Amino acid sequence: MRVLVTGGAGFIGAHIVTALTARGHEPVVLDALLPAAHPGPPPDLPDAEFVRADVRDAEAVRQALRGVDAVCHQAAMVGLGKDFADAPAYVDCNDHGTAVLLAAAAEAGVRKLVLAGSMVVYGEGRYTCPVHGLVRPGPRRAEDLAAGMFEPRCPRCGAALEPGLVTEDAPADPRNVYATTKLAQEHLTAAWARAVGGTAVSLRYHNVYGPGMPRDTPYAGVASFFRSALARGEAPRVFEDGGQRRDFVHVRDVATANVTALEAVVTASPGAPGTLTAYNTGSGEPHTVAEMASALSTAHGGPEPLVTGEFRLGDVRHITADSARLRHDLGWRPSVPFTAGMTEFAHAAQRASAVGV
Ligand SMILES: NC(=O)c1ccc[n+]([C@@H]2O[C@H](COP(=O)([O-])OP(=O)(O)OC[C@H]3O[C@@H](n4cnc5c(N)ncnc54)[C@H](O)[C@@H]3O)[C@@H](O)[C@H]2O)c1
Ligand SMILES: [Zn+2]
Repeated sequence: MRVLVTGGAGFIGAHIVTALTARGHEPVVLDALLPAAHPGPPPDLPDAEFVRADVRDAEAVRQALRGVDAVCHQAAMVGLGKDFADAPAYVDCNDHGTAVLLAAAAEAGVRKLVLAGSMVVYGEGRYTCPVHGLVRPGPRRAEDLAAGMFEPRCPRCGAALEPGLVTEDAPADPRNVYATTKLAQEHLTAAWARAVGGTAVSLRYHNVYGPGMPRDTPYAGVASFFRSALARGEAPRVFEDGGQRRDFVHVRDVATANVTALEAVVTASPGAPGTLTAYNTGSGEPHTVAEMASALSTAHGGPEPLVTGEFRLGDVRHITADSARLRHDLGWRPSVPFTAGMTEFAHAAQRASAVGV
């Protein structure tokens, strides 16, 4: 099948292009090579047809959609940005861009789409109180964090909570502008599917890591920060007490999830026709941030991580996925184990960053 991969020159998109080609499909990359994502020399483009254009450019998108069986929509501004002044740029790129792409697809008769979703739509993870059962704690208070009280407490009785796995039915609770734009992308895509009788899947990625990940910029993830510190000969600085639980999923597994989802939407309908189906896309093996830092330091032969007690307001404490639906419905299986993946990442090349490290 011929697949338009928006953002196909990016970290995850490039791996998707490679995976599509390996399965005998025909990827077409549409990427604007945004300076925030590609500040250095032009990236090594994956071996595929390449259109340098913005998804907000309706004419360019219309042309790129010719003869396409499905769209794999990865293009987005990622990360938290610097401050709230970035909000219009995020909304414009991620949501206006998605609307232009969907309108062009509607017009071109393309009815199949896989979206790069994100676990950030859930906000704080899923918790159980020994007395009140399932509860949803609100944002943590600055005073508590400053006092080293990092664990969220039961909103009703203040008891310590047991973190659990988030399922796709958990209510959305985006906690920042980026998260809000990722949720809006899903809603726009669901509206498109309903309006045109399309089939859409949103893969809600957890923390993606692996070769080609950008170096530490305000937009990069925590694994990338640690990896960059080690490359400078410094200890990774672990915030809070290091006990934050995350699901680190390898980029090659995320690429396979995209190919699996694309094949499913093109040949059948994973959900009811005219709907979007969301799938958590994680390794299914939660680890703490401190464990991840240690695995990287050990593999790199670098200094032991430093647990600093620093914190960022707005960070969530634990967020780990239950990816059983993706395994059950589409038969996807992650294949890169945590230690092997981190060992590879400790030595893998990273992409240049905007801050020149
Ligand atoms: N990296 C993660 O851990 C993670 C987690 C959850 C979701 N995601 C999502 O996965 C997708 C890919 O992320 P990534 O980590 O590969 O980021 P990335 O910055 O490496 O890649 C994004 C690519 O999209 C391009 N792009 C951005 N806006 C564009 C536009 N308007 N028109 C055309 N091209 C545009 C950029 O030039 C870049 O090449 C994003 O949608 C992101 O929200 C990533
Ligand atoms: Zn309680």
